[in-house]
Amino acid sequence: MLPPANLFRRITFLEECSCNASLPLNGSAESTVGRFWKEAGRDSGDFPGRTGGFQFSSLKPLPSLTLRKISLRIVFDPPLSTVCPMNFLITGGAGFIGSNVAERLLRAGHAVWAFDDLNEYYPAVFKRQNIAEVAAIGGSRFQFRRGDITDRAGVDRIFSETAFDQVIHLAARAGVRPSLLEPALYQRVNVEGTVNLLEAGRERGVKKWVIASSSSVYGLNSKMPFSENDPIFSPISPYAASKLACEALGHVYHHIYGFDVAMLRFFTVYGPRQRPDLAIFKFATQIDAGRPITVFGDGSTARDYTFIDDIVDGIVACTERSLGYEIFNLGESQTVRLDQLIALLEHALGREAILDRQPLQPGDVPRTYADISKAATLLGYRPQTRVEEGIPRFVEWFRTFGRGRLQDEELRINTEGRG
Ligand SMILES: NC(=O)c1ccc[n+]([C@@H]2O[C@H](COP(=O)([O-])OP(=O)(O)OC[C@H]3O[C@@H](n4cnc5c(N)ncnc54)[C@H](O)[C@@H]3O)[C@@H](O)[C@H]2O)c1
Repeated sequence: MLPPANLFRRITFLEECSCNASLPLNGSAESTVGRFWKEAGRDSGDFPGRTGGFQFSSLKPLPSLTLRKISLRIVFDPPLSTVCPMNFLITGGAGFIGSNVAERLLRAGHAVWAFDDLNEYYPAVFKRQNIAEVAAIGGSRFQFRRGDITDRAGVDRIFSETAFDQVIHLAARAGVRPSLLEPALYQRVNVEGTVNLLEAGRERGVKKWVIASSSSVYGLNSKMPFSENDPIFSPISPYAASKLACEALGHVYHHIYGFDVAMLRFFTVYGPRQRPDLAIFKFATQIDAGRPITVFGDGSTARDYTFIDDIVDGIVACTERSLGYEIFNLGESQTVRLDQLIALLEHALGREAILDRQPLQPGDVPRTYADISKAATLLGYRPQTRVEEGIPRFVEWFRTFGRGRLQDEELRINTEGRG
């Protein structure tokens, strides 16, 4: 259910109009509006949205433009008591990104079902801790169900529990290098699991979806920054290939069954609740303990590191819009070299790193860099946390919650950076 128009706080013209205008809204409205093609300068008009009309009237005349593209950002920030609560299913809801999304949705007054098999790809103690933290915030509006997305009967059970308004599908096998060791597992979970969910949604008419893809789909693409329009026929890991398949499946269900699907290509996400198999967490653990860190390559590989709160902003923005089928890069649009990242960690931890240099690994790409202009225009996506600020925030969490949970033998999974 979409919230009523009178909950909008502010509309900001982002391009082609210099004015910021407060507008009283009337008529039915979508929770946010990405793009308008309209004759500016009129007092009111219709938004040809995919899910119905949007109307507004302005207090003061707009600048006189004819048939120009206008982007608007509508800030929707109602008091919690007035939120129209929705039922969200989050697959992978015990994981790093899923638990952070669940927390945000619960704080906004929604109900969340987290579906997760709590597998031991990395120690499930992290996932249980995430669930405990989220449950403490959500109370009875949060439900956890343990289940496997490759088990169609289990998927059907969760879908028959309640009428979900939206699905945020994040469950996946998420490591790049481990996918080279177990390619069939990655295809089964990431592809077959996704089909099971989409089918269950089709049977019950749950058509609003946000699905995790990955910057890994860009593979050997050498054009920088990576744009959603770039050809992506050169994945270099089974993981990347599985995410490409998910993007294709999302399009099929949009085209044939009218699903509304946002496919999100995340760029190396980090921050509180970070997966312990990712480089930033592993480096922090080793530097903190005065042990050598394994660095693949000469330190010149670079990643677009994205702070978790910005990723959550992007995901939530998708839940507030009707998009049809769209693919979005969600990155920071700031490329950081590996040696710079290590220096930031050293500074935040107050210790020098001991480096154990190893050759680059198969499946690694030299650089990632997100063009986020599409997400900016259609989602109002504006990443707020640069890595210089985000790493100290990660370290603060690491010191309180992350440190010590991981034993040496559990650091066996040798993945770096991207999932
Ligand atoms: N973290 C990143 O940097 C990053 C980058 C690009 C894409 N992604 C994608 O974002 C999503 C979330 O990633 P994350 O970093 O939170 O990883 P995560 O491993 O912390 O979360 C994924 C969750 O899915 C669950 N899961 C795995 N297989 C399952 C199955 N068969 N049935 C039910 N649950 C299952 C896991 O137990 C885990 O809790 C994934 O799809 C990942 O591929 C993440």
